[in-house]
Amino acid sequence: NEVVEESLRSPICCIMGHVDTGKTKLLDCIRGTNVQEGEAGGITQQIGATYFPAENIRERTKELKPDAKLKVPGLLVIDTPGHESFSNLRSRGSNLCDIAILVVDIMHGLEPQTIESLNLLRKRNTEFIVALNKIDRLYGWKTSKNAPIEKALALQSKDVVIEFNMRLTHVITQFKEQGLNTEIYYKNREMGDTISIVPTSAISGEGIPDLLLYLVMWSQKTMVEKLTFVDKVQCTVLEVKVIPGHGTTIDVVLVNGVLHEGDQIVACGSQGPIVTTVRSLLTPHPMKELRVKGTYLHHREVKAAQCIKITAQGLEHAVAGTSLHVIGPDVDVEEAKKTAMEDMKSIMSWVDKSGEGVYVQASTLGSLEALLEFLKSPDVKIPVSGIGLGPVHKKDIMKAGVMLEKKKEYATILAFDVKITTEARELADNMGVKIFCADIIYHLFDQFKGYVKDVRD
Ligand code: GTP
Ligand code: MG
Ligand code: NA
Repeated sequence: NEVVEESLRSPICCIMGHVDTGKTKLLDCIRGTNVQEGEAGGITQQIGATYFPAENIRERTKELKPDAKLKVPGLLVIDTPGHESFSNLRSRGSNLCDIAILVVDIMHGLEPQTIESLNLLRKRNTEFIVALNKIDRLYGWKTSKNAPIEKALALQSKDVVIEFNMRLTHVITQFKEQGLNTEIYYKNREMGDTISIVPTSAISGEGIPDLLLYLVMWSQKTMVEKLTFVDKVQCTVLEVKVIPGHGTTIDVVLVNGVLHEGDQIVACGSQGPIVTTVRSLLTPHPMKELRVKGTYLHHREVKAAQCIKITAQGLEHAVAGTSLHVIGPDVDVEEAKKTAMEDMKSIMSWVDKSGEGVYVQASTLGSLEALLEFLKSPDVKIPVSGIGLGPVHKKDIMKAGVMLEKKKEYATILAFDVKITTEARELADNMGVKIFCADIIYHLFDQFKGYVKDVRD
């Protein structure tokens, strides 16, 4: 039985790093799931969230330290994409978390988005540990499934240990070049000043007990104040999704406070503030990824930290990446509406002042920002005249159609990870508005580039 202290909430841990270092696979290994293999192109393109109850962490770490005292109710882990296009989602993830895991591929060392993630974490003074992943790829590695790392290393031949040490030393040197002292965790005597490295394999699970135990023990020891439960709700919308039987729902991370069924909430909407009432609070089962369809648990109330799917009326235009506000007895609704809409302001600054450019449509504020950032980059440079969130409707086609008379090639919708309604598709065909759809950002660019060339030839 756990010694859970009433006043502590679960720490929120963000997992970050370069593309394909094994972030999602590490979570799959802990969850016993297969989320990574279901991802388009094998890359993560959304923020994910999974709740790990203390009892599961205890089970996974008992070989390493049977008498460990877990004082937090669990651990909420946020998965982020490593692909360069999603720096805004990494930024959002790192803004939400109390602690982070920076994943480095032992065969590759530090890579561009390792350094980008590192800088995001440093900017917010977020404490993190390094998972030096894919150790099973060392030549001649002997598998010992889910073993603590020291035990796993003790089983290796001399050659494997030599290669391991050589690669570890190289990574430590690379971190030094970034101004950081790092050390393998069980030799680290200056926790905090020196960042700990935990070697892991997401395939065979070596080092996973060490990673989990270290995260929990460290956060409950050094972050008591931050992890102290308060009543004031702090909540961020991760995704807006249509779920059969539930209508439009929002996936949120409740960072602190309690949400109840029947609470009056204010969300940021693309067409203005949304004031509505929580109809139901759903969570995925513990150890299941929120962003993957599955069955849900119903709750009367949910206490932070948790990832929750909220169903309510009128959420169609809610914008992912914004804060959710609860209207309590002493909160002014008009004030709350104003506060809720602040998150939308910055995005409008991306639209080209000339009024000439393509129309961009994406599923979330995060993916929209990522796409806009990509279109603005020096080797792409595609101007944008209008933006939209959610499915492509007739009104979006009308807006994009304005370009037909100005610059034909810009009478185009770049639709990222969104559906196009049948009526919108028909209207586009009739008007001559081009629609390009993709669920990988740079595919949109390739399609558009090909089209522009055709139009100009
Ligand atoms: P993004 O989310 O797209 O940034 O990638 P990621 O960091 O989540 O990596 P992902 O989990 O998608 O893994 C990328 C590839 O590396 C997959 O083919 C995994 O099977 C493989 N992989 C991940 N971890 C390990 C590991 O520890 N050992 C080995 N051998 N392969 C791994
Ligand atoms: Mg991933
Ligand atoms: Na990947």
